[in-house]
Amino acid sequence: MQFKTIIEPFRIKTVERIRLTTPEERAQFLQNAHYNPFLLHSSEVIIDLLTDSGTSAMSSEQWAGIMRGDESYAGASSWLRMEKAVQDLTGYPYILPTHQGRAAEHLLYTRIGGPGKVFLSNTHFDTTRANIEFSGAKAIDCPIQENADPSLEHPFKGNLDLEMLEAQIQIHGKETIAAVILTVTNNSGGGQPVSMENARAVSGICRKYGIRFILDACRVAENAWYIKHREAGFADKTYRQIAQEMFGLADGCIMSAKKDALVNMGGFLALNDLDLAVQCRTVLIVTEGFSTYGGLSGRDMEAIAIGLEEVFEPDYLNYRIKSTAYLADKLHALGIPIMRPAGGHAVYVDARAFYPNIPLDQYPGQVMACELYKLGGIRCCEIGSVMFGKYDETGKLIPATMDLVRLAIPRRVYTQSHLDYVAEAFGELAKYRDQKTGYKIVYEPPFLRHFTARFECASV
Ligand code: F0G
Repeated sequence: MQFKTIIEPFRIKTVERIRLTTPEERAQFLQNAHYNPFLLHSSEVIIDLLTDSGTSAMSSEQWAGIMRGDESYAGASSWLRMEKAVQDLTGYPYILPTHQGRAAEHLLYTRIGGPGKVFLSNTHFDTTRANIEFSGAKAIDCPIQENADPSLEHPFKGNLDLEMLEAQIQIHGKETIAAVILTVTNNSGGGQPVSMENARAVSGICRKYGIRFILDACRVAENAWYIKHREAGFADKTYRQIAQEMFGLADGCIMSAKKDALVNMGGFLALNDLDLAVQCRTVLIVTEGFSTYGGLSGRDMEAIAIGLEEVFEPDYLNYRIKSTAYLADKLHALGIPIMRPAGGHAVYVDARAFYPNIPLDQYPGQVMACELYKLGGIRCCEIGSVMFGKYDETGKLIPATMDLVRLAIPRRVYTQSHLDYVAEAFGELAKYRDQKTGYKIVYEPPFLRHFTARFECASV
């Protein structure tokens, strides 16, 4: 028989204390952090759902690998192990290790970007967009229309809109398009998966016009779970085979190993194109480190090689996707408006729908993030008009398409009772939602403002 309870498919060997703070302490901590949860100290947080990035618990095998790490400057055995693991998975011959995903983005997008160039994607993640814009190029999101409606059910809501892709290529001219980037899963678009059919079609369009096709593959294993279970023709394939098929459609990938490689730090750029790899490698050596370690220690590379195997274990992936869906279902049952269906690494709550009384230029997502912290010590991340908002010429906010709050679940870290606690906090949040007021930004940097922006109550 099949048990209904999805258990964590691991035993816990080491534990880390969580300090249970009081509401009074938390009110003070949040004020000290200028109402920006990014500025809280982790010791002030009870359940940290800020990100699933670099927050995984490593396995005993990975820790054993850490001890084996070869710290030689050149040609370390740990590098050779990582290089082979990445080549076997992706099929790309040229692998450049980097200290994390955005370093790989910087290497590639500053080479192929620059003023006048355009990048097209299902949705550019914030660091992806920042690296592209930093190079002087333009990043245009082309998600399918269904992605903009949080409550709409769709099996592959992370897909790229093919008509829009063709139209953008016509508008800008194929020579102008530096790359098409498919982000799997589509993080900024709600952690939604991309179908193989969509990836094939994107690949076909890129081939037709001779445009480079790059996968942002940081959650490629989670994406493979959805393909196996939701797309016809994949039930008998392994998760790894599905991921390999997807890599085979593109010309290269960027991966933040802090997600589906189950490590705390690391990333890589992998390419088919030797010339481009040589150009990127030159910059890698100048900015990150020699080409056989990039910004990584030998031990990090060892752990990545092992994590890239473990992440495709069926019991792990099944637990991973189902436990995120477990939290999503609980919130849905409480009447909390969430992005449907649940994403793989996170539950996205529709703060705009939850707080209809809060104007968009007072950031309903920020209100939810702050209230959740005050109530339960839960830290989460606004993915809305703080992260993606822009200003028009008069200084008026152009809000993001959606105001979501992301509850990102670290891999192998929290148990079911932690998720029950989060759901309970939402039950409380709903009781007082009409009484809440918004925030205004009192300090912001020019790029990636959500990390360091400071807020005050809008009514002050
Ligand atoms: N691409 C995607 C889709 C991401 O989600 C991230 C990071 C990156 C690239 C950059 O990788 O952090 O290793 O430099 N996402 C984190 C998050 C920060 O919280 O979703 P990085």
